[in-house]
Amino acid sequence: MSAQLISGNSLAATIREQIASRAAELTALGHQPGLAVVLVGEDPASQVYVRNKVAACQKAGFKSDMHRLPADSTQATLLALIEQLNNDTTIHGILVQLPLPAHMDSHAVIEAIAADKDVDGFHVSNAGLLMTGKPLFRPCTPYGVMKMLELTGVPLRGAEAVVIGASNIVGKPQAMMLLQEGATVTLCNSKTRDLKAHCQRADILVVAVGRPNMITGDMIKPGAVIIDVGINRLPDGTLCGDVDFESASQVAGWITPVPGGVGPMTITMLLQNTIEAVERTIANH
Ligand code: GUN
Repeated sequence: MSAQLISGNSLAATIREQIASRAAELTALGHQPGLAVVLVGEDPASQVYVRNKVAACQKAGFKSDMHRLPADSTQATLLALIEQLNNDTTIHGILVQLPLPAHMDSHAVIEAIAADKDVDGFHVSNAGLLMTGKPLFRPCTPYGVMKMLELTGVPLRGAEAVVIGASNIVGKPQAMMLLQEGATVTLCNSKTRDLKAHCQRADILVVAVGRPNMITGDMIKPGAVIIDVGINRLPDGTLCGDVDFESASQVAGWITPVPGGVGPMTITMLLQNTIEAVERTIANH
């Protein structure tokens, strides 16, 4: 391996220490950061994510409210809970874990969250603010990726950045954040012709697709920064990313591992967004 490793575990630990000490200060001022996490149904992956989010909150000294609703809850029940959390002054951030059961309209649910408590950054108002260069909350995963890029010291201004995967949660906001920093951004999707040609031009490559090992070393520009957002479980139970680490790390200048890469950064930036929410509450009163 010739690439330098970007350790999400280590960067996340550093940022979480800073967050915990800021949380202690805010608590001493009577503003303990409060995050409400809502889980509807029993999706096994979501249960793990939610448990990790709540544990990270507690470790950082936040108040964390966990709300579980049965899978057959009505949308009205969920909206009533969101309304109650919107009005709860001890709660600064509200996160409704996705995906929601099929009978619910995710868009309507996200829009019901007060934009100034939308620590996921999924509300159209927050998406629009990011797009117009005045972000309030940035979606956690791409926000974490920006912190990892900062750590490398690789300049983003004028860089060719290629993002693969155009979801609302990762790809689209990632493209906006890179653009904001002066990169020339290409956003690829499942219809993109000649993905390899796009990848080979990338100084910065962010992959968020969900296909095990789809990006191989021959697709990478020598010295590029490779950020692997994918977390895939193989039939043998092991985890792997969307990037074939073995071959890619021979060519890249920097690379994130899976696990221990982007994953720990996502929750860290959720804590960061909750701190930012508290700071804004104080500033506005
Ligand atoms: N499901 C997968 N990723 C996320 C996320 O970042 N936030 C929420 N709320 N649900 C998710």
